[in-house]
Amino acid sequence: MTYKDVYSAWRTDPEAFWLAQADLIDWDSAPTRAYFDQGPAGEWFVDTRVNTCRNAVDRHVEAGRGDQIAIIHDSPVTGQIFRLTYTDLRDRVARLAGALRAQRVVTGDRVIVYMPMVPEALIAMLACQRLGAVHSVVFGGFAAHELAVRIDDAQPKAVIAASCGIEPGRVVAYKPLLDRAIEAARHKPDTCVILQRDQLVASMVDGRDVDWHDVQRNVEPADCVPVPGNHPAYILYTSGTTGQPKGVVRPTAGHLVALQWSMDAIYGIKAGDVFWAASDVGWVVGHSYICYAPLIAGATTIVFEGKPVGTPDAGTFWRVIQDHKVKSFFTAPTAIRAVKREDPQGTLIGDYDISSLQALFLAGERADPDTVTWAEEKLGVPVIDHWWQTETGWAVAANPLGLGLLPIRKGSPAVPMPGYDVQVLDEAGQPVPSGTLGPIAVRLPLPPGTLLTLWNAEDRFRKSYLERFCGFYETGDAGYVDDDGYLFIMARTDDVINVAGHRLSTGAMEEVLASHPAVAECAVIGVADPLKGQVPVGFLCLKKGVDATPDGIRDEVIALVRDRIGPVAAFRTALIVDRLPKTRSGKILRATMCSIADGQTYRVPATIEEPAVLEEIGVALQVAGFPISKT
Ligand code: COA
Ligand code: AMP
Repeated sequence: MTYKDVYSAWRTDPEAFWLAQADLIDWDSAPTRAYFDQGPAGEWFVDTRVNTCRNAVDRHVEAGRGDQIAIIHDSPVTGQIFRLTYTDLRDRVARLAGALRAQRVVTGDRVIVYMPMVPEALIAMLACQRLGAVHSVVFGGFAAHELAVRIDDAQPKAVIAASCGIEPGRVVAYKPLLDRAIEAARHKPDTCVILQRDQLVASMVDGRDVDWHDVQRNVEPADCVPVPGNHPAYILYTSGTTGQPKGVVRPTAGHLVALQWSMDAIYGIKAGDVFWAASDVGWVVGHSYICYAPLIAGATTIVFEGKPVGTPDAGTFWRVIQDHKVKSFFTAPTAIRAVKREDPQGTLIGDYDISSLQALFLAGERADPDTVTWAEEKLGVPVIDHWWQTETGWAVAANPLGLGLLPIRKGSPAVPMPGYDVQVLDEAGQPVPSGTLGPIAVRLPLPPGTLLTLWNAEDRFRKSYLERFCGFYETGDAGYVDDDGYLFIMARTDDVINVAGHRLSTGAMEEVLASHPAVAECAVIGVADPLKGQVPVGFLCLKKGVDATPDGIRDEVIALVRDRIGPVAAFRTALIVDRLPKTRSGKILRATMCSIADGQTYRVPATIEEPAVLEEIGVALQVAGFPISKT
C-alpha cells in the first residue's frame, strides 16, 4: 500500500484502521473497539489488557528469536562493545523486575531512571513495564535541581541510577547529583538502585541505596503484569513556558500500536533488521526509537555512548553503521552539522563500508536544506526529515520509507501520518490557504500513542494544548503547508528553544537569572547558531547601586544556570543592558529581540514604549559579536 492509500484508509475509517494495526500486538485481552470518547482529549484501546515488556521482549523469545541480538551497546567513550540477545534481555529484565518487586514496587508506582547510555537504562525501563510501574527517565545533562523538581512531581517509590556518565574528557558523577536532588526534594524515594560503573564508584547511603547486582541476588524473576490499555506507560518531563516541566503521560496500548506501525511504515524496519537512533534515553527519541519501537518490532537496537565528533572523530557514525550493519539511522540535524564541520568533504565516510544503510532520518529540530543536501551527497541514501514532539511520541509528519518514498522536498518533513489531521490556522482558529504561515494544530482526537494528559496537571494540559483552538491540539509550532500538502515547520510560537536538538525553556532560564540578587529584570531569547540551531542569550538589567562588577555578575548567572538547569542548557552569553524593549503594557518584545539577533529585518512594533531601546539591544549584541540587523 502507498502512503496515499494508507492515509485515505485512515481517513475513511479511523476505527477500522487502528483496530487492524492492533492485530500486530500480543494482547492479554484484545480490543473490542479502538477509540473511547473519554478523558480530556479521547483515549485508545481502553478495554484491553496488555504488557509492554511482553511485546518488546518475551514474545520474540517465544517466537523462536531468542538468540537474535536485541541490544548492541557501542561505547567509544569506554572502548566497549557488548551484545545482548533477546533471551539475555528477557532474563535480565525479569530479574531486575523481581528485585524491584522485592523492594515493594508495584503496578502504578513511579520509578525515576537517571542513567547514561548503557543497556541497563533500557533494562530498567523494561523492568518497570514488566510490573506496570511508571518510569520517568531524567536526562543526565540536567542538574540536581531539575532532578529534584521531577522527584517531587512524580513522587517515585524508587530511583534507578548509575554512578556516572561519561562525556568526552570528563566523568560526570551522577550519584552526588542524585544525593543533592533527594536532599532538596520534599518527596523521598524508599530505595535507590545504583549501577556502579568501573569509571567511578559512588558512595552509598545506608538504608536507602542498594547495589544493582546485590539487589538482584536470589530474587524470583517477575512475570509480566497485564495493565489496562490507558495505564500510563511512562512520564517524560519536557520543557514548557515556565521552570516547572510538563510531565507528558504516555498511554500503554496506543504506544504499542503506534510504535509497531511506525517501524515498518516510516523507517522501513522489520524483525531482525538493525536500527540505530543516536539520541539519548532521556529524550523522547530515546524512549520511542532506542528502546521501545525497535524492540516491539523485534529488531536490533543500538545504544551508542558517544558523540558525533570527538569520540574519537567525525567518522564514528560511519564506523558504527559499518560494524553493526545498520539499516536505518536516525539522528538530529545538529549532529550531522557537527560531523560536516569537522569533515566537510566527508572523507571519513570513505573509510567505512556503509552499504547496509538504506536511509538517514532526521528530527528534533528543523533540518536545514544545506545539511540535508550534504548528507544526501556524501551518504548516497535518502535523507528523511520528520517532525514530532515529546507530546506525540511518534512522527506527526514524515516521508514514510516503508510505504514508498514520496519525492523529498528539502526543508519540509513531508506529509501528515495517519491519525494526524494537521491544519495551519489563523488567530480565529480557521484553516488558512496553502502557503500561509500560522500556528499548526492537529484536529482531535490525536492518534494512539500520543499523550494522555500531563502528570498531576490536567488543567495545564487543557490550557497548554486544547483551549486556544476549539477541537484541536495546539502543537506550539508555526509553519505552512504547500500546494501539494507538504508541511514546513518554521518556528515555535512559545518560549521553547531548541539547542543542539535539546528542547529547553527560555522561561525556565529567566526564572534562574531573576533569582540573582543583582538582577532587576531579564529576558532570554534563542539566537540562531550555525552548529546548535539555536543558543540561549540572556539580557540583564541590574538593580540600582549594585556593588559588583558586570563581569562578575555575568559569570555568576552563567554558573547559576549551569547549576540549576544543567550543562545541557548551554547558557554561555549574558549581556548587561540598561533597559529591555517593552510594549506600553509592559510586555517584553522578545520576538523583536530575536529578529535583531538573527540578522533579520524587522518592523518596530507600533505598541513599543521606547523605540530607542531596540537600538541599545542591537549595540549590546554587536559588541558581543552577533551580526545584527536593522529596521
Ligand atoms: N550528561 C552530562 N552532561 C551532558 C550530557 C549528558 N548526557 N549531554 C550533554 N552534556 C553536557 C556537555 O558535556 C556540554 O558540557 P560542557 O558545557 O561542559 O561542554 C553541555 O552539556 C552542552 O552539551 P551540547 O549542547 O550537547 O554541546 P556539545 O558541544 O557537547 O555537543 C553536539 C554538540 C552537536 C555534538 C551534540 O549536542 C549532539 O550530539 N547533539 C545531538 C543531540 C541529540 O541527539 N538530540 C536528540 C534529538 S533526536
Ligand atoms: P521534543 O519535544 O524535544 O521532541 O521537541 C519538539 C520540538 O522540536 C517540536 O515542537 C519542534 O519545535 C522541534 N522539531 C522537532 N522535529 C522537527 C522537525 N523535523 N522540523 C522542525 N522542527 C522540529
